[in-house]
Amino acid sequence: MRHFGRLIWIVIYGISTVSCQVKVEGFISDSVLLPCIYREGPLPDQFNVHWRDKDDKIVLDINNRVQDLTTQDQVFKGRVRSFPDEYKAGNFTVVLEQARQSDSGIYECHVPKVDFQRRVQLTVAGKPVEAATPSGSAGGEVVTPNFPLLTLFLCCFVV
Ligand SMILES: *[C@@H]1O[C@H](CO)[C@@H](O)[C@H](O)[C@H]1NC(C)=O
Repeated sequence: MRHFGRLIWIVIYGISTVSCQVKVEGFISDSVLLPCIYREGPLPDQFNVHWRDKDDKIVLDINNRVQDLTTQDQVFKGRVRSFPDEYKAGNFTVVLEQARQSDSGIYECHVPKVDFQRRVQLTVAGKPVEAATPSGSAGGEVVTPNFPLLTLFLCCFVV
């Protein structure tokens, strides 16, 4: 029975780990924000942050609070913005500009020094053709704006 209990724990933990993955939607040619916020504790003086895409391509490396644009994969060159002023607050959020459909997939933000990892699932879609219906009209599906941070809070609450 004790083993059974442990197994359940592992399954629950596995599910919650998987579900704690922020989903972000963006449109082709637009910018999308990929959030990564570390607030588990103080950051050491020296640390690196590694942003990787689904193919383990380098999206951005941040080495000791300085972004390193030399290691970036060709695919991401000139399209990734990060916010150095936010690093000290543990905010390693990046903005991916000129989003392409092929950018869709899982992104990982990894801070090895503090054993921190966040995943963002990005979906880039074509812009919906704007139907000139007033908002809130009956029948139509309401397109809600994206709240990645809300998602993040929710999923971390669940965990
Ligand atoms: C993190 O930085 C981004 C870019 O400046 C900002 O939009 C976002 O609100 C910040 N998030 C938090 C929780 O500070």
